[in-house]
Amino acid sequence: METFRTKLGQVERLLLDANVFCGHGYLSPHDEAVALLLGAAGLGPDQDQSLLGLPFPPEAVAQLDSWVKERCVGRKPIAYILGEAYLGGCRFLSDERALIPRSPIAHLLLDELSSWWTADLPPGTIVEVCCGGGNLGILAAQVFPEAQVWLADLDGSALSLALDNVALHRLSSRVGCYRGDLLGAIAPESIDLIIANPPYVSAQEMEALPPEYGHEPAVALLADEDGTRLARHLMQQAAKTLRPGGLMVLEVGETMWEMEARFPKVPFLWLDLPHGGDGVTAMRAQELRDWSAAGIL
Ligand SMILES: C[S@@+](CC[C@H](N)C(=O)[O-])C[C@H]1O[C@@H](n2cnc3c(N)ncnc32)[C@H](O)[C@@H]1O
Repeated sequence: METFRTKLGQVERLLLDANVFCGHGYLSPHDEAVALLLGAAGLGPDQDQSLLGLPFPPEAVAQLDSWVKERCVGRKPIAYILGEAYLGGCRFLSDERALIPRSPIAHLLLDELSSWWTADLPPGTIVEVCCGGGNLGILAAQVFPEAQVWLADLDGSALSLALDNVALHRLSSRVGCYRGDLLGAIAPESIDLIIANPPYVSAQEMEALPPEYGHEPAVALLADEDGTRLARHLMQQAAKTLRPGGLMVLEVGETMWEMEARFPKVPFLWLDLPHGGDGVTAMRAQELRDWSAAGIL
């Protein structure tokens, strides 16, 4: 009988041979193989090493084989195969309705935005705009337990997944979802914290992405020609929407270089991200208003 250890070695080998791309929540084929084995065996992620010596359940083999095929041949990311993703130690439902959670903003939130949120009181009103499945807004709601949180997206499918995640985390009393174009529906000076991970992949970059990205909704990835348009609109809108003392945390990834080129007079501050990643900036309400008034946004 095969053990978890021998099965793990086999699956990892298959993933390596298929040259799968790991960029959707798992760092390596080894980590992906562990997730597939545990999922097929109906086990949660918190297992210890002693599992490796135990027999892999024979009744789980067919499920595992079918998932390995979906991963290696179909190039489906693990989160969509298993229907779940972990971010910041938190479990979220994940499927083709929305982008797979992986934003480095999660770790800034878990650190309560440390040096960035300097007001005496924690943020009372939070919007995650372009929320997808709502993972960042839900993490924010957990980190700031008194806050009223809004999750907003243009895509109704993504919002339906966000609603499922709100229900999963039993947060519907203070986390609401609505359909809207960026921050257009938000009243002026009404929000303390805006969290935004908008689409920022240019059309040219889209063509070069590994096939795994083809399973994610194009509307979650594709921006305009140079990837900066939505980020630019968000900065202009946030200048009006944030309360005095408010903050916007914005992710643009590698598009940070296009942002620098587009807005040469904006002194972007790109944050050090403790768990890796690039292109996250924090902007205070007053800075945004000053830049807007100076006509440099
Ligand atoms: C990169 S995904 C981010 C999802 C989520 N915030 C995360 O980090 O996993 C971008 C999201 O923006 C949404 N979106 C695209 N254009 C939008 C717009 N004009 N207004 C609001 N949401 C938009 C997409 O539907 C998608 O869910």
